[in-house]
Amino acid sequence: MTDFANRLIIWQKVHGRHDLPWQNTTDPYAIWVSEIMLQQTQVSAVIGYYAKFMTRFPTITTLASATQDEVLQHWSGLGYYSRARNLHNAANTIMDEHSGNFPQDFETMQTLSGIGRSTAAAIASFAFNQVQTILDGNVKRVLTRYFAITGWPGTPKIEKQLWALAERLLPRTEMVAYTQGLMDLGATLCTRSKPKCGSCPLNSSCEAYNQNLAGILPTPKPRKAIPEKQITMLILMHGNEVLLEKRPPTGIWGGLWSFPETEATDNFAATSLEKFGMAVQISQPLPILSHTFTHFKLHILPQPLQALKPPSQAKESGQVWLSIEDAIGAAIPTPVRKILHSLTQIFH
Ligand code: ADE
Ligand code: SF4
Repeated sequence: MTDFANRLIIWQKVHGRHDLPWQNTTDPYAIWVSEIMLQQTQVSAVIGYYAKFMTRFPTITTLASATQDEVLQHWSGLGYYSRARNLHNAANTIMDEHSGNFPQDFETMQTLSGIGRSTAAAIASFAFNQVQTILDGNVKRVLTRYFAITGWPGTPKIEKQLWALAERLLPRTEMVAYTQGLMDLGATLCTRSKPKCGSCPLNSSCEAYNQNLAGILPTPKPRKAIPEKQITMLILMHGNEVLLEKRPPTGIWGGLWSFPETEATDNFAATSLEKFGMAVQISQPLPILSHTFTHFKLHILPQPLQALKPPSQAKESGQVWLSIEDAIGAAIPTPVRKILHSLTQIFH
């Protein structure tokens, strides 16, 4: 066993995390769901969602037979909703092509929507004790420091180098403790800022520690200014009900329910008259909400409007009138939830 693996495993057993809700199981489904939720979300934010998701969808069969809308409803607020759509699609693929059993073959796992090489490796090691290496953002940080590799770890050349190094470090046994140890070290000691090298089991052989480079590694991503966009969300209200529209299946918030929107420069009153029948402005716009996505920043101006026609008139498919309470429980993105909460303050 490499010295790296040996020290990491011993450290994990004493100082690592042992009681997370997706540990102490070998159910590939339970592990898969956790790994997808944890891809872009902190452990603390995932825990509550994970418990509710697993209660409602305890097996691949229950997930596959649910509607996409209900799956998105359980993901509402977690962000990166393509993760939920992919998870649901993959559950259906497992039913159709793998007799309902999560595939054990490492390559086959990676044919499922949303499962890349690192996620497949996490599932393979936790569920099936296979010798495969993970390489997520945390592990890239540990390895660029341990080997003092300069250059942004997202460049293909460095990424390839990191995969090769990660594979060389692998032990032949104890893959559960080893894989969890990589995650735990990155999350608790080898943190992005102020790494706790003094407590690290790897410090005697860590190049960054020995050359005092931990503060400047990994090299940050070259930052381009991200584009910004402003839109108006039309909050059509009738009594206690609001109008929501189902968004297109792909793109931001794909498949989620949201308010109708227009470009901020449009005359929202004219647009809404055309599209929704008679509506009048009932208050000043609510304060602008800003939401940062991976590739752009969105500024949302929420404009409450009173619909003059009764809700039954809105039959256009993909639209629904819901009470504010029901809307809050639907598959909606976070800014829409914030707007609905502020409506309950303003109009009740
Ligand atoms: N991040 C990704 N996978 C994880 C896991 N299994 N435990 C803790 N954090 C994680
Ligand atoms: Fe990270 Fe410091 Fe440990 Fe090196 S010694 S792996 S930089 S925590």
